[in-house]
Amino acid sequence: MSKVLIIFGSTTGNTESIASKIGSLLEGAGVTAEVKNAADISDATDIAKDYDAVLMGASCWGDEDVELQDDFQPVFDQIGSMGLSGKKVAAFASGDSSYQHFCGAVEVIEEAAKDAGATIVAGGLKVEGDASAAPSEIEEFATAVAKSL
Ligand SMILES: Cc1cc2nc3c(=O)[nH]c(=O)nc-3n(C[C@H](O)[C@H](O)[C@H](O)COP(=O)(O)O)c2cc1C
Repeated sequence: MSKVLIIFGSTTGNTESIASKIGSLLEGAGVTAEVKNAADISDATDIAKDYDAVLMGASCWGDEDVELQDDFQPVFDQIGSMGLSGKKVAAFASGDSSYQHFCGAVEVIEEAAKDAGATIVAGGLKVEGDASAAPSEIEEFATAVAKSL
């Protein structure tokens, strides 16, 4: 059975709700999904090793610049040593479209994952607020990930 790791960074719980929803949709599609809060990851070295795909999501908190969520930033800083080369990756985020870089974490994660040798297997998922705002987009994202495995 395919195994997917879902890492999220979330301050008020919005990105966490999206991560949980993706996890349960993947489980429903027969995929083993492990959801990890970035706040609980002290060292991300080789974290991708036992997984077929890694999904990463975070909110961001800058005004003019993309500032990744506080717990996610130190994990993201290790993206080059996660063992992503040849792995399937997709990014998601919660945000607020009144900001200049709506869900800016998505592009930042995708670019860095590509640089680390990963293949992006689903279009970045951007959600306004929590998971309840975009059930069909979240389902499409989870389906694209499951199909890629
Ligand atoms: C000071 C500040 C800066 C923010 N910057 C952005 C931003 O650049 N882009 C964005 O989409 N949302 C931005 N937001 C909104 C949060 O990212 C949004 O509320 C998000 O849903 C929080 O998700 P979380 O609960 O998973 O942390 C900002 C919010 C604040 C208060």
